[in-house]
Amino acid sequence: MTASTSHLIAPHGGELINLTTTPERSAELKAQSREWPSWDLTPRQICDLELLLSGGFSPLRGFMNKADYEGVCHNMRLASGVIWPMPITLDVKEEFAKSLKPGTSKIALRDAEGVMLAVLHVEDVWQPDLKAEAEAVFGSTSALHPGADYLLKKSNPWYVGGSLEGTATPSHYDFRSLRLTPAELRSEFARLGWRRVVAFQTRNPMHRAHVELTFRAAKQVEANLLIQPVVGMTKPGDVDYFTRVRCYQLLLSKFPAGTVKLSLLPLAMRMGGPREAIWHGLIRKNHGVTHLIVGRDHAGPGKDETGEPFYGPYDAQELFKKHEAEIGVTMVPFNMMVYLEDQDQYIPDNEVKNGARVLNISGTELRERLNTGRDIPAWFTYPEVVQELRRSFPPRHKQGVTIFFTGLSGSGKSTIANVLMTKFLETGGRPVTILDGDLVRKHLSSELGFSKEHRDINIRRIGYVASEITKNGGIAICAPIAPYDSVRKQVRSMIEPVGGFILVHVATSVETCEQRDRKGLYAKARAGIIKEFTGISDPYEVPADAEVVIDTADLSPEEAAQEIILHLEREGFIGVNGNHA
Ligand code: PPS
Repeated sequence: MTASTSHLIAPHGGELINLTTTPERSAELKAQSREWPSWDLTPRQICDLELLLSGGFSPLRGFMNKADYEGVCHNMRLASGVIWPMPITLDVKEEFAKSLKPGTSKIALRDAEGVMLAVLHVEDVWQPDLKAEAEAVFGSTSALHPGADYLLKKSNPWYVGGSLEGTATPSHYDFRSLRLTPAELRSEFARLGWRRVVAFQTRNPMHRAHVELTFRAAKQVEANLLIQPVVGMTKPGDVDYFTRVRCYQLLLSKFPAGTVKLSLLPLAMRMGGPREAIWHGLIRKNHGVTHLIVGRDHAGPGKDETGEPFYGPYDAQELFKKHEAEIGVTMVPFNMMVYLEDQDQYIPDNEVKNGARVLNISGTELRERLNTGRDIPAWFTYPEVVQELRRSFPPRHKQGVTIFFTGLSGSGKSTIANVLMTKFLETGGRPVTILDGDLVRKHLSSELGFSKEHRDINIRRIGYVASEITKNGGIAICAPIAPYDSVRKQVRSMIEPVGGFILVHVATSVETCEQRDRKGLYAKARAGIIKEFTGISDPYEVPADAEVVIDTADLSPEEAAQEIILHLEREGFIGVNGNHA
């Protein structure tokens, strides 16, 4: 027997929306969809759609039409007058938008594999002022604000609004038992006899401070605790959610039995600070939650160009408080928790007595300790969490690394690269792959020539392969000419998030290369037989960001390889006693 949920907090707008249709209707819509235009949803649109369909965004019944959108941007209200702080819009390309007829068109919304997830009954099609939206919603148009940056750089320029009929739920194959919809969570609360539930929203791993904070909050309002981390889209650079969820699972045993639950929220965050806090409250209300913990700098986007935070640390709490009655969820405000070493306990920073010694480890410091394999103390987090984090973030000497050579033809890149590979093989531990210029052109890029466009494609291919090798813990040694700075930087930005990237400039002068002319190519270039030859009839942009610069006039190949090894050792990519296993 399913327990009644009628005693639980009412959803926003009074009714829990469920936009998923019956199997019969889905089949009918699928058959009709042959005639309709299709839109392939972006990852963010899929997140929004999932919460629209399940009622996480009640009372919304689709992507916003123009009246709702404008009300939300300017007054934080839907056209009906109900409070709603965040635009939920379907952004599309101009050509696609112009092919639609408001009031008549239907769009088949599809996932990346082409599966139709929903039908959108088109009501409005318009070109929004995205700058004005960023100003109104985020108070900023800065590229450093992830929400504003998304709007201005990644969003499509036209919006389509209309009601939805869901034909399939976005598919997830991970942590299935932890992905509870609003209706499922509500019946779970009813089954467990939970009336008061305080939710903790998070996009970070949880440590002792968070456990202490959530436990205190639950005790303070005598409520059960719902840990509801975001697994949709969070701030770029955050710890991946797979690792986080494994850590959250390990923490559940730290709470009194029967008072805590973990459920994952497929939300695409906007990092919108105060407005986002209200949004989080409404989403939680729809999930049957009565209280929300709002901490310091809730959903904060970080700092702007001048180094100032976009929002004040307690702006989110203030805006939430102002609208608390209408939101319907009670805020449980919390300061930052700090560790009082003398008493071995955590307390909110505003309760610390003058002169008391407090400890804290920042996110950056934690990363550094993981990278270098340094101790992470038990007062900061639990040993089982540390172990889990170390599995995902091994110390540098166990991470993958790319050594990317750049330099003129005949500068000595390949020779040094081969010596380096032999040295790595001698030490053992990590698999090594060499991506030499000539070899790549034979196996990966045989159809390409030497125009700027083709050279850039060639380097991006090398970068892609190297990033895969690096991600999987191997060593990639690349040795193309790579004459252009911008594409070298692109490769660096592809690889740095997954491991090490060391740019080595083999700075042998064009005169020396031409004098050596080992392959006779310089002579051919001078004679005009080879066109667009780097250093002779084509440019080489000297890198200003090389980690190592080698002058082969002074160093033998073996000495050059040793310079690189010493650099890797200094940066921690080679472990103690030469052991990088
Ligand atoms: S690039 O610019 O990075 O894509 O070039 P890369 O793939 O490394 O070039 C590999 C080899 O191509 C030979 N070659 C030329 N180099 C430069 N310019 C022109 N026009 C050209 N035509 C052929 C040259 O032998 C490069 O090999 P290395 O090992 O650098 O001598």
